[in-house]
Amino acid sequence: MRAQLARDFERFGRSLPRDFAAHVHETYRIDLSAHYLGELLPHPVGKGSGQLSLNTKQLEEDADAGLAFVILKTVIAQDEAGAQTMAAWAIHETKMKVEQRRAASGAGGWTVTWKGRGWDRSFDEYLSLVRAGRDLARAGRLLAVPSVKYHLPRLHEPFRDGEYRFTTQALATAWGTGPLLVEKDFSPTLAGDALADDRVQILRWLREVPSQIRAHAPVRLALKLMNARFDDAFQVEMLQAASGADSLVVFNRLFDERLGVAYGGWDLSDRNLRVLDTPGLRPGLVMPELCGTGNIHSGRMIIEYARRGCSSVQLHTFLQLPLGEYPAVNGSRTQRALHKLIFDPADGLIAGLLELEDRGALERRSGELHFLDLVPDAYRPR
Ligand SMILES: Cc1cc2nc3c(=O)[nH]c(=O)nc-3n(C[C@H](O)[C@H](O)[C@H](O)COP(=O)(O)O)c2cc1C
Repeated sequence: MRAQLARDFERFGRSLPRDFAAHVHETYRIDLSAHYLGELLPHPVGKGSGQLSLNTKQLEEDADAGLAFVILKTVIAQDEAGAQTMAAWAIHETKMKVEQRRAASGAGGWTVTWKGRGWDRSFDEYLSLVRAGRDLARAGRLLAVPSVKYHLPRLHEPFRDGEYRFTTQALATAWGTGPLLVEKDFSPTLAGDALADDRVQILRWLREVPSQIRAHAPVRLALKLMNARFDDAFQVEMLQAASGADSLVVFNRLFDERLGVAYGGWDLSDRNLRVLDTPGLRPGLVMPELCGTGNIHSGRMIIEYARRGCSSVQLHTFLQLPLGEYPAVNGSRTQRALHKLIFDPADGLIAGLLELEDRGALERRSGELHFLDLVPDAYRPR
């Protein structure tokens, strides 16, 4: 199998088949199935919300590459009259810098430095993108899920129901049949804002936002949790307060107060994995489904998140590196990233799963290895 993997790595670096998960199943008897928001996926790798999911062309390219899912750029909620309490997040900024960032541990990694925030075009344009995503999902080509930043009140204030109602209903109409799948973003710039200075206020948002959204349409809801500017114990409190969601995305980027920007790299994955490792977080506690995010650049890192409860992962930075950083010689960035994540003979997902089998840490069932067997029971969907 190792020789086969070396051969696949070599040839798929020239051209990655869209249905590579079926090839993996047939050739290695490895079932890469995963899930996000209760939807079954052929493999665990999706794209996080951001500048790489702004238009139909990007979605088409990801569908062709065989990405499992995409979260659309975060739109700022509005009411019928177009008023947006969180308007400060709808700012326009095009310049992004992909750069190296050394972590506190000394490890070198990548981060994207960008001063922008949410969707900066009209809400109608966003609805068109949601419809384009819906069509791709119906054609079985790509699951594309909208993301929203809704109003978050101060402790003594009510939620702006008009913004929750108008935005949720408009998205549900654009989505069409069945429950609306939607992600609610608590972003790193929010973590850096004075609004997020108060722990009690943050915990109230996490407890109450799910019912605020659910009041207006049938939804399956993911909350993308921020890395708040408090200690690890508070991250755990946030996880527990957010139990009204169907899925939790853990955890969005860190906020550098000195530079006033969000960042990732090894500091982000070190913190996320450490928090997910917290004794007492499991076993026994039935959590909503988890989806990992943060510095995922190898199959081994996907395994680290999976063993801590994540049944899928969403990436941004690794889908944005200079082309020379990928071993593949052809294809879109998404194809090149998938090629490395899945097939790299040293630290790809297949290599990592085979190694776990060799060590006796993962067993075949009816002759097959299953990615989802990495995920502890406490995190399976309720
Ligand atoms: C330039 C940029 C823009 C982003 N915009 C959003 C956003 O609008 N909404 C959101 O939920 N996450 C956003 N993110 C966070 C990513 O989706 C992802 O969760 C995070 O960067 C961690 O993954 P990574 O280390 O693979 O980049 C953004 C990230 C970057 C780098």
